[in-house]
This record gives sequence, structure tokens and C-alpha cells, in this order.
Amino acid sequence: MAKVKTTFFCQSCGAQSAKWQGQCTSCKSWNTIVEELVQKPDKKDWKTGNQSAPNRVSKPLKISEIDTTKTVRMDTADGELNRVLGGGIVPGSLTLLGGEPGIGKSTLMLQVSLKLPYKTLYVSGEESQKQIKLRAERIQPLNDTCYILTETKTQLIFKQIEALQPDVVIIDSIQTLQSDYLEASAGSVSQIKECTTELIKFAKETATPVILIGHITKDGSIAGPKILEHMVDTVLQFEGDRNHVFRILRAHKNRFGSTHELGIYEMLGTGLREVTNPSEILISKKDEALSGNAIAVTLEGVRPLLIEVQALVSTAVYGTPQRSATGFNAKRLNMLLAVLEKRAGFRLGAKDVFLNITGGINVDDPAIDLAVVAAILSSNDDEALAKNFCFAGEVGLSGEIRPVQRVDQRILEAEKLGFEIIFVSKHNKIGLKNTAIKVQLLTKIEDLVQIIG
Ligand code: TYD
Ligand code: MG
Repeated sequence: MAKVKTTFFCQSCGAQSAKWQGQCTSCKSWNTIVEELVQKPDKKDWKTGNQSAPNRVSKPLKISEIDTTKTVRMDTADGELNRVLGGGIVPGSLTLLGGEPGIGKSTLMLQVSLKLPYKTLYVSGEESQKQIKLRAERIQPLNDTCYILTETKTQLIFKQIEALQPDVVIIDSIQTLQSDYLEASAGSVSQIKECTTELIKFAKETATPVILIGHITKDGSIAGPKILEHMVDTVLQFEGDRNHVFRILRAHKNRFGSTHELGIYEMLGTGLREVTNPSEILISKKDEALSGNAIAVTLEGVRPLLIEVQALVSTAVYGTPQRSATGFNAKRLNMLLAVLEKRAGFRLGAKDVFLNITGGINVDDPAIDLAVVAAILSSNDDEALAKNFCFAGEVGLSGEIRPVQRVDQRILEAEKLGFEIIFVSKHNKIGLKNTAIKVQLLTKIEDLVQIIG
């Protein structure tokens, strides 16, 4: 094998050292020294042992003359994934799928490989071929186009790829890959960077799309260097509460589409099921109306989504009242409580307030504010809201109800699900006429108190 040269660099100040050490001698920071390749074996590319193709010379082209006719997106046969990717997989693209352990990344990708109408190579460094087959049999009928390889050395993987010529490559996971050119152990910053670089080179040269599964760290970012997210074309995040059945697929970065789209799945015993109409599942259609429940019409991406907000207001037993929120920003809850106290005269200072968004979903659409306030008021009075009410409005610091975006779409969704009154801001410009649902306009929080109080 030709000579490979590596050196150690500090990731924070860039200082170079001959060997690994815990602390950088130059900037004194700890754990920043990482091994990096400085010289690759000559004239060899990702196909080990082969001479690389002569360097193609890239010439500037007029943008109008660049040929894009060949980049037809590959349909993944999974509606939710297609939407999040912006219409399918782009040939030659690198997609990174991140998520907590056990959330279902491997399940999703295995399911996609079984559904894909293309020759797919699923490379796993985490499970054996048998284990994968057992799982596959449970989730999807097997097909003849999905190949499973258990290997972690990139050079050997490329050899197999060359022999098999797959149309799509899936790697589970990038943290288990190891390149022969580096001594560092699998999962280290330098290995992740090197393996990703090799895969990018392969993807771009052969126009084969590659999907990487990535682990995430405790704080929720993808394990490994931040640069990994810069290197790939698309970063998808698979999230949800492990104790709930819903999983959400979001695009954090997408070079080929919008990052507003969202895919929703339900984890069943037989794999992940696409949820095409999430609102119907997320709100419980109970016969009996309960106090402290309110329905919010939120927007996830461009899809309107109806969710249930539950609040519990009770007298504080201890001196400091408890405030807790699940699926909602706790700081925002405190702000809304302060607004209710100051503008509407509710004495919530001595009350415990608990808030929960059902379904284990995390919402950051400000339009949910109005439903949160309504749920709190309802629980405080211990009086249920009418079952046909729903809400979409942001609450400002002075108690004003602020307009929300795409209000027409929200109204239509609420109407479709059989709600009879939707509360929105007076400042919203509503283009719809003759809707079956009544649109109740509010200016300030006192208006809401008057109507539902
Ligand atoms: P997995 O895909 O292994 O997670 P990851 O690769 O993100 O670590 O998913 C494992 C979880 O999914 C496991 O806890 C059980 C659950 N699961 C089901 O509920 N149904 C199924 O059909 C499968 C395959 C997994
Ligand atoms: Mg896995």
C-alpha cells in the first residue's frame, strides 16, 4: 500500500503535533487533538487499487446552459420521505439521517430499502445479516432488489459496491465506518470526516445517492464533527418520544428542497406506518368534554395540524408554584401566565400549572398560544370548553392577539375536521368566504375571557 501520512491537529486553534495528546500545547484546550490525513496514497481513488480517472477539467458554463435533464429524482415509494426530501432522492446526493438511539432510524431505512424499486445496498456495521433479515421479515415483504452487507471498512465496502453496482447505498451507521488510511478508531472525528469524504467522492462520481445514518449526542446534535452536516446535501432528523408511537421526520438542511416539510409516522409492531392525516389521530374525539383541554390549529411545515393542549391548574401546596410543560416551551408558558395575570387579572401566582401537548409532539408554532391560554382558563374555572371550539393565534406581551400565517389553510383544516368555531386574531386577513365554520375574531385576551369565561 502506498504511503499514507497523518498528523494530529488541534480542532480549536489548528496547531499541529506529532502525536496525540489530551491537551493542546498551544491553546491549552482539552480533547481537541484529532488525527487527520495529510497525504493520501497516490493516484488511487475510492476504488482501492484502481488508478483514478484522469482529472476532468471543469469549465465555467452559462447557468442557462447547464444540463439538468438527467437529474430525475428517484421515487422512494414512501410518501412522507418523498415529501421531506422535496420530491424524492436526488442522484449523487448525500443524505444524513440523525436521531436518538432506538427511535427507529434503522427500521425506517430498512423499510425504505425494501420498498425502493431500485437495486439497494444496505450496509450495516451494527447488526448481523440474520438480525436484519429477521427484522425485515416483520416489517415488509422481502424483495429481490435489496442487498444486505455487514462491513465497516470503507475500502472493502467500495469493493463490494463496485461488484454489485447498486442504485442506492444506505450506510448504518457512519459512526461504525473505518477507513484504512487512518489509525483512529471508528466513530472518532477524523474517521467520520474521512469516511464521509470518501463517500461523497463516490456519490458525486457515480451519481449514486448515499444515505447515512448518524447517531446523535446527548444534547441532540449529530455525533461527530459539525462539518459533517456541512459536507452532506441533506440533513434529516428523526424525532419523537420513544414512549409514544409517533415519529416525526424533519429536514434540517436540504440543498434540493424546502426545510419546512415534515413527515409523520406511527411505530407499530410491523414497522413504521405513514400517517397521511395526522390531525385525526392527534385529537381525541371524546364524547365528554373535559376541562383544561383545548384544540390548537398549528402548522408544521406547510401542513396544518390539529393538536390537543391540556392544562392543569391547581393550588400550589408549597411556597413556590410549579410550572411544567411537555412539548411546549416552559419560558413561553411563564410568559403567557404573566400576561394572564397582568392583563386579565387572573391570580395564577399561587397556582401550579402543568401543560401537556398530547401525542408526544413538540410544537414551536406561536399560533398555539391561544389554545394554551384557553386550556389554562378552562382548567382554572374547571369548566370544559365547547367541543366544537378550536384556536389559532399568537398572544403578545400586552395581551393582544396577533395574527398567524396561512390562516385560510388552518380554517379549512378545522372545518374539514368538523369544528364549528375557530378563534383567530382580528388582524388576520381572511380570504375565505362562506365557510361552514364560524370565524370568531379577537383583539385582546379579555375578549377570549369574556366569550369562554
Ligand atoms: P431501531 O430502528 O433499531 O432504532 P435506531 O436504529 O434508531 O436505534 O428501532 C428500534 C425500536 O423500534 C425498538 O425499540 C422497537 C421498535 N420497533 C417497533 O416498535 N416495531 C418494529 O416493527 C420494529 C422493527 C421496531
Ligand atoms: Mg440502528
